[in-house]
Amino acid sequence: MTATLSRPAGLRPHPVLGHLPELRRDALGFLRHARAAYGDVFPIRFGRNEVLVVAEPAAAREVLVTKAASFRKGRGIQKMEPFLGTGLLTAEGETWRLHRRLMQPAFHRAALEGMAGDIVGAAAPLLARLEGAARSGEEVDVGSEMLHVALRAVAAVLFGTGLDDRELAVVERELPPLLDRTSARIRSLVEWDLPTPARRREQAAGEALDAIVDRIIRERRASGEGGGDLLGMLLAARDEDGGGGLTDAELRDEVMTLFLAGHETTATLLTFLLLSLSRHPEVRAEVQAEVRAALGDHTPTAADLRGLPLLNACIQETLRLYPPAWLVPRQATAPVTVAGVEVPEGGNVSVNIFLIQRHARFWPQPDAFRPERWLEGGRTPEAFLPFGAGARMCIGNHLALMEAGLIAALVLRDFDLEVPGGGPTGLVAGVTLKPDGAVRGQVRAASAVQE
Ligand code: HEM
Repeated sequence: MTATLSRPAGLRPHPVLGHLPELRRDALGFLRHARAAYGDVFPIRFGRNEVLVVAEPAAAREVLVTKAASFRKGRGIQKMEPFLGTGLLTAEGETWRLHRRLMQPAFHRAALEGMAGDIVGAAAPLLARLEGAARSGEEVDVGSEMLHVALRAVAAVLFGTGLDDRELAVVERELPPLLDRTSARIRSLVEWDLPTPARRREQAAGEALDAIVDRIIRERRASGEGGGDLLGMLLAARDEDGGGGLTDAELRDEVMTLFLAGHETTATLLTFLLLSLSRHPEVRAEVQAEVRAALGDHTPTAADLRGLPLLNACIQETLRLYPPAWLVPRQATAPVTVAGVEVPEGGNVSVNIFLIQRHARFWPQPDAFRPERWLEGGRTPEAFLPFGAGARMCIGNHLALMEAGLIAALVLRDFDLEVPGGGPTGLVAGVTLKPDGAVRGQVRAASAVQE
């Protein structure tokens, strides 16, 4: 990369590792410090590779929208291919365009709203466990509960009731370690492809998941029944230009991609939401009053969510402060300039959503949880991109918001969840952004709270 900005002595990269030691120790702290020293667009070194960090909305728009044709997905995403195959996250060019066109209609808000009942159903075991915890006084691990419920919700939306309990248990057991391995592979500089026990285990987990997805696809095709779920819509999708639909192998890759892209992101959003509301009891009380007045005892629908402005504002504010997908990597496919900086072919660029959404120029009190800013017209749309931007923006954004809204409404209506001591204050910025420790919550049933 020809971007050779002078570096203050404290930020000089290690000759081999680059800024990796600082990034491993405290990635967000280092990046904030680097922005303060270099400005909004600055290079860092990841091993021997230079990466141009983009921490400002106009430059992010150049990368993701106006000059998107000069970029492909970054190297991190490419490292997901062994597990995901060629799904929307990893595909490029014509394959990506065709699949996105085929899949887009299934993700329209109106198409998804009919699936709200599946999401509410998927939340039933969570509510039962919270009820049990409220009775016994035992603490719950909020992060792990949210992972479970988000996984069940994605499974319900994808397959309806097509996954039996045994298969769901396999998915719950096998998917998280696969994700961890994928994250480790993305973080490591050196590619080891040795047949280690961990590697063999990863392969076995992948095969177990494939077998489940293959079974469902086979049975659906054989029965000829669509089903009102996402898989049914994807099976029925046909190219408008007279082309065919997705093959079984392509469907498998897309289903695995949706599982992967759709569950941890939504789970961390819910975890940070409940954590933030626990730290702001006055906001939580207002949200609970809003939810209880709007829902009463009835099962929430997608339409109900439109009548919950404060809950929606809290979700937006959580996505702003804690964007689960906190950076979006790209690699230049041709020489291109970003904010006037020349990026050569093959150069790496990283759009840093976290830094953009906490930029003091766009957000007064950028680090404060202030949901009211969304109700007072104080929001800055160009500096808010938790789902990315441009053609490769998240296809699951409406689904994620509906899922988070429904699950949060159910939990907040029926329970009061507090994290004693305020919970972990640091953040871990891996593939997704997470709290730097377990979030343990104390639960009380709403009826007990209101007495
Ligand atoms: C709060 C939850 C979520 C967040 C913050 C999030 C964030 C993102 C972001 C930032 C991207 C763009 C990546 C890039 O440009 O390189 C993306 C892409 C994607 N997301 Fe999400 N996502 C969420 C939930 C979901 C859900 C629920 C699904 C589906 C079940 C999903 C499926 C996808 C897919 C398939 C892509 C790739 C789209 C493409 O390249 O055409 N996401 N997501």
